[in-house]
Amino acid sequence: MKHLIDPLDLTVEEIDDLLDTARNIEANRQRYAHLCEGKKLATLFYEPSTRTRLSFEAAMLNLGGKVLGFSSADSSSAAKGESIADTIRVVSCYADICAMRHPKEGAPLVASRFSGIPVINAGDGGHQHPTQTLTDLLTIRSLKGRLTDLTIGLCGDLKFGRTVHSLIKSLARYQGIRFILISPNELRLPEYIRDEVLNANNIPFEEVEQLETVMSQLDILYMTRVQRERFFNEEDYVRLKDSYILDGEKMKSAKPDMAILHPLPRVNEIAVEVDNDPRAAYFKQAQYGVYVRMALILKLLEVEVC
Ligand code: CP
Repeated sequence: MKHLIDPLDLTVEEIDDLLDTARNIEANRQRYAHLCEGKKLATLFYEPSTRTRLSFEAAMLNLGGKVLGFSSADSSSAAKGESIADTIRVVSCYADICAMRHPKEGAPLVASRFSGIPVINAGDGGHQHPTQTLTDLLTIRSLKGRLTDLTIGLCGDLKFGRTVHSLIKSLARYQGIRFILISPNELRLPEYIRDEVLNANNIPFEEVEQLETVMSQLDILYMTRVQRERFFNEEDYVRLKDSYILDGEKMKSAKPDMAILHPLPRVNEIAVEVDNDPRAAYFKQAQYGVYVRMALILKLLEVEVC
């Protein structure tokens, strides 16, 4: 059985196929409307979510399937002390596939070891978020026509931002990718990703603190929120939370075809005035999340698309 726990669980060819399917779904929604009839998706969310949970549910409903689940640890028997292993054994009796979000890194991996159904990591702590990465890749490929030969700026909380970790892991497998990592010193990319992904694969990257100094070089600017929920004290969060605010003035030095991505939710890091800039792609990105999750559900359930 196949699970999606880490972005590298999918080969580059599998990712390209998923993105092709997602584009096909976007163009031919009706063709996919009944492919999961009789199937159920369980969403096991131990942490808050708007996009990931609802886009998974929309994806399964769009495929003709049904959904069940919980949206907080408090409303599940985790509040009574039930283990992940026991929960997934039971959910395997009720559903055909599940998406799990958990504040603890590695929880979906543990679940996959006890599961009778495919498990999708919908975000585990500050670790990985592979389906957000599929969404990001689909957005980049749709806007740029390729996933190669791009300079990608990742800005904000690179330490705790799991979407950044997964995106770097995935994009590092494509040719001609160069990263510019823009963060305060305290929120730099974790050393294990610099060493095991970037240095180990000779991927060009630089680390800077000022967004303005690198803006004109970027093909993609991936903004991120400072992850309040991962900080050990509120004082540090308050000091760092507004390190970067992308506004109309800063956008003046960006390329005319630079695309702004953000996994959302946004707090202050993109001024609302930027939403009207044609380079702002973050709401389109959220829409792509439904198509790519539909493609992923079909793949993991081994549904044949005729
Ligand atoms: N991008 C993302 O994971 O958003 P949610 O936290 O709303 O699911």
